Amino acid sequence: MMSKSRAATVMALVSTLSVLLTACNAPSPDTASLKYSEDLYDGCVQCHGAKGEGNPEVGAPSIAGLERWYVKRQLRGFKKGYRGFHPNDDGGKRMEPMARALDTDQKVDLVSNYVASMEATHPAPTLEGGNPETGKIYFAACVQCHGANARGNLDEFGPSLAGASDWYLLTQLQNFKAGVRGTQPDDAMGAKMRPFSMTLPTEQAMKDVIAYIGTLSE
Ligand code: HEC
Ligand code: HEC
Repeated sequence: MMSKSRAATVMALVSTLSVLLTACNAPSPDTASLKYSEDLYDGCVQCHGAKGEGNPEVGAPSIAGLERWYVKRQLRGFKKGYRGFHPNDDGGKRMEPMARALDTDQKVDLVSNYVASMEATHPAPTLEGGNPETGKIYFAACVQCHGANARGNLDEFGPSLAGASDWYLLTQLQNFKAGVRGTQPDDAMGAKMRPFSMTLPTEQAMKDVIAYIGTLSE
């Protein structure tokens, strides 16, 4: 039997050696993890697009440049089932298995970093009939958590909204209001958001506030 301290010394040598070998033969960890992150993102391209610009035809929003912490939280939410749980949540149902396929925390972390590092794509507006001036009045209720420029506020866990796909913002506001999102007991952040969807009495009001957010996205 090797003594404990001898064993520890041998282990230390072995690990030093393997670090040295890795350093000589393999790409640096940064290059390796970037490549791995890109490979993980390949699994998202089909719906979110190569630049993270989104695709309205499959209900996949633009995600490029979203805050890292927010992407992580959403992926976790889909995995834990507090997003995408509702029978009427068509978009969420499509996304849920994709998040589950990221089966380790490391994969979630890496792909979240990658998405956050992508340059925002500012998708062109698709909704019509929103009045940004009325929307500005409604938006006063949103500033606390999403910021005056709709760039998000980490202190309140409100994500940036400026530059998001407008049709997606509308779906999400409708989802919050109808209880399709933000009603699962584990979804503290969704629950925080939900009452504010109620400050928008009609679909027109939602379009107005989204039109105002659109003016902040340039
Ligand atoms: C089969 C299509 C599909 C694939 C593949 C897919 N997604 Fe999605 N994703 C969606 C849809 C649809 C939504 C919108 C969900 C909703 O309406 O609530 C979404 C939503 C999201 C959101 C939430 C955005 C927000 O603003 O809250 C994130 C983050 C996300 N996807 C990341 C990813 C990542 C990362 C991958 C690859 C690992 C991926 N998605 C693969 C369809 C897909
Ligand atoms: C008390 C804080 C708070 C206020 C006020 C608030 N929100 Fe939110 N909002 C949040 C949080 C937190 C989230 C993220 C929820 C999550 O993590 O799933 C969110 C998410 C959203 C989303 C979904 C974004 C996405 O990418 O899926 C939209 C759209 C939204 N808010 C719009 C609004 C609008 C419009 C108002 C004003 C009428 C508003 N919010 C007011 C906290 C707030």
